[in-house]
Amino acid sequence: DAPETVSPTGAVTGAPKTANSQQGPFLTTAQGLRLYDTDHSLKAGARGPTLLQDHHLREKITHFDHERIPERVVHARGAGAHGVFVGYGTAESVCKAGFLRKGKTTPVFVRFSTVVGSRGSADTVRDTRGFATKFYTDEGTFDLVGNNIPVFFIQDGIKFPDIIHAAKPHPDREIPQAQSAHDTFWDFVSLHTEATHHVLWHMSDRAVPRSYRTMEGFGVHTFRLVNDAGETSLVKFHWKPAQGVHSLLWEEAQLINGIDPDFHRRDLYDAIEAGAFPQWELGVQVFPDTPEQTFEGIDLLDPTKIVPEELAPVQPIGMLTLNRNPTNFFAESEQVAFHVGHLVPGIDLTDDPLLHARLFSYLDTQLTRLGGPNFHQLPINRPHAPVNDMLRDGYHQTAVHGGAAPYRPNSLDGGCPFHAGVADGAYVEMPQRVEESVKVREAPASFADHFSQPRLFFHSLSPVEQEHVIRAFTFELGKCYEQAVKERQLRVLARVDARLCSEVATGLGLPVPEFDGELPEVTPSPALSQIGRRWPVE
Ligand code: HEM
Repeated sequence: DAPETVSPTGAVTGAPKTANSQQGPFLTTAQGLRLYDTDHSLKAGARGPTLLQDHHLREKITHFDHERIPERVVHARGAGAHGVFVGYGTAESVCKAGFLRKGKTTPVFVRFSTVVGSRGSADTVRDTRGFATKFYTDEGTFDLVGNNIPVFFIQDGIKFPDIIHAAKPHPDREIPQAQSAHDTFWDFVSLHTEATHHVLWHMSDRAVPRSYRTMEGFGVHTFRLVNDAGETSLVKFHWKPAQGVHSLLWEEAQLINGIDPDFHRRDLYDAIEAGAFPQWELGVQVFPDTPEQTFEGIDLLDPTKIVPEELAPVQPIGMLTLNRNPTNFFAESEQVAFHVGHLVPGIDLTDDPLLHARLFSYLDTQLTRLGGPNFHQLPINRPHAPVNDMLRDGYHQTAVHGGAAPYRPNSLDGGCPFHAGVADGAYVEMPQRVEESVKVREAPASFADHFSQPRLFFHSLSPVEQEHVIRAFTFELGKCYEQAVKERQLRVLARVDARLCSEVATGLGLPVPEFDGELPEVTPSPALSQIGRRWPVE
C-alpha cells in the first residue's frame, strides 16, 4: 500500500490509499492486538465492579464518545454521489481548462444539500438547495459550489452571518427547524430588500424540488474565463438536468416530510443503485469582459441579478453523470470540503463582494469542522493531481515528509524548480484593473435596484406557478407572530406586483398596502418558468 506521491525533493505527500483498519480475519484493538471478546468488560468476578485496567473497554468507549464532528454551520443536511464529467470541447474558445477539452473524462463528487435545517432535518422543506461539485482534474481540484437558485439573498458577504442568524431557528424555541416560516426570517428580508429576488424564487416551486435529480444548478457569481491566447470572458455557470426540472406541490412536500423525511437522499441513492444515473449538462452564459462588467445594463458583479437566457443563451460545454454511491456517508458526504477558491488554470474570479467573503469563510469553518489544517489529506478531499506543497505538520498530519526543509528559494533540495511558468501549466491570476483606489464601505449605485428582477421573475411564471407563489407567501407569512413584520413584507410585495401583494394580504386577512411609485416595465423571460422546461440533451 504505497504512499501516493514522492516529490522531487523527496517529500512524501498523501497517505496510503486505505487507512490501516478493517484488515485481516480477526477483530483487534486500534493497535492491532487480537481480541477474544468484545461483549464483556473486565470485572473483578462475574458480579464484581468493572476494572479500569480494561484498555479495550476504554478505547472502544472513548472512540465512540468522539464519533461526532460539528455539523456544517449551513448546508448541514445533504447527500452526495460520485460520477464523471466529460468535456465537449465547446468551451475551448473561451477557456483553457484541461477538463473542458473534447472527450476529457474527469472524476467528480457532488453534494446536494438544504441550507437551513440541521443534519437530521427533513428533505422536502421549502429551502434553497446546495449543488456543490468537486472536479478532481489533472491540473488540480476545481470546486463549483453553487445552488439551485441563480441569485442570493445578499450582495455583500459581510451580511452572511445576519441572514443565516435570521433564517435559523429562533434561539429561545429552536423553532422552526428547517423552514422559512418565522418572524426573524421575514423581519430580515423585509428590512433588507436586496433579498427580494431570492425570496421570490424561495416562494416559488423551485424551493420544493421533486428530486435532487430534477434541479437546475447555478454558480450564481460571474466568473472570469481565460483561453489559450490569454483572452478573458465573463461567464455564469448553469447545470441543466437531463431529467427535466420538476418540483413537488407544497401539499405533497408536507406529506412526504412526514412519511419519508429522507425522500431526496433515498431517491438519489436508489436511482444510482438501479443504474438510472442522473445527468446534468454544464453550460455557460458568456459575456464580453468589458471594464464596466455589465451586460445589457445588468451589473454582472451583483449576485442578486440574473441575465435572462433570452439575452444570453446557455451554451453546453460538458456532461456530468452520477454513477456511484458513497461507500461511507461520513467519510465522503460529511468530510468533503468544498471551496470557491479551488480553481484551475482557465478559471478566475471576479470582484463580486459576496464571492470574496466566501473565499475566506469556507477554509476558516472547515478548520474547525474537520479538526485542523490537514483535512485536504482525507481521501475524499485528496487532489488527483500530484501534490508537492510546503505545508507541514499540524493536527492529524498523515504524510511522512522527507527531504530538505520546505522553503523557497532553496539550494539544498535537489534542484526542484522554484516556480513553474504559464507554459508549465501554473495558475496565474489574470491582471485586473482596480477602478476605485479609495477605501470605502459602500455598495456601487448599480446594486440599488432591488425590485425589477423580482418583478421580471414573477411575470415570467405561468398562472399556476404564480398561484403557487401567492399561496407560499400566504402560508409562510401566516406563521409569523409579529403583525408589523407581515405588514412590512406586504409593503415590499406591493413594489413587486400589485396582484401578488393584494392576494397575499387578503389571504392573511390584512389591509392591502398602497404603493404610489412607478413599477418598472419588464419583459418576461419564458426560460424562468418551469412549465415545459426540459433542457435538450441531444
Ligand atoms: C456551505 C453555496 C454564500 C459560507 C455551502 C454549501 C453550498 C454553498 C452548496 C454546501 C457545501 C457542501 O455540500 O459541503 C453557497 C452559494 C452562495 C453561498 C451558492 C452564494 C452565492 C455563502 C457566503 C458565505 C458562505 C456569502 C459566508 C460569507 C458557507 C459556509 C458553509 C457553506 C461556512 C459550510 C462549509 C463547510 O462546513 O464545509 N455554501 N454559499 N456561503 N457556505 Fe455557502
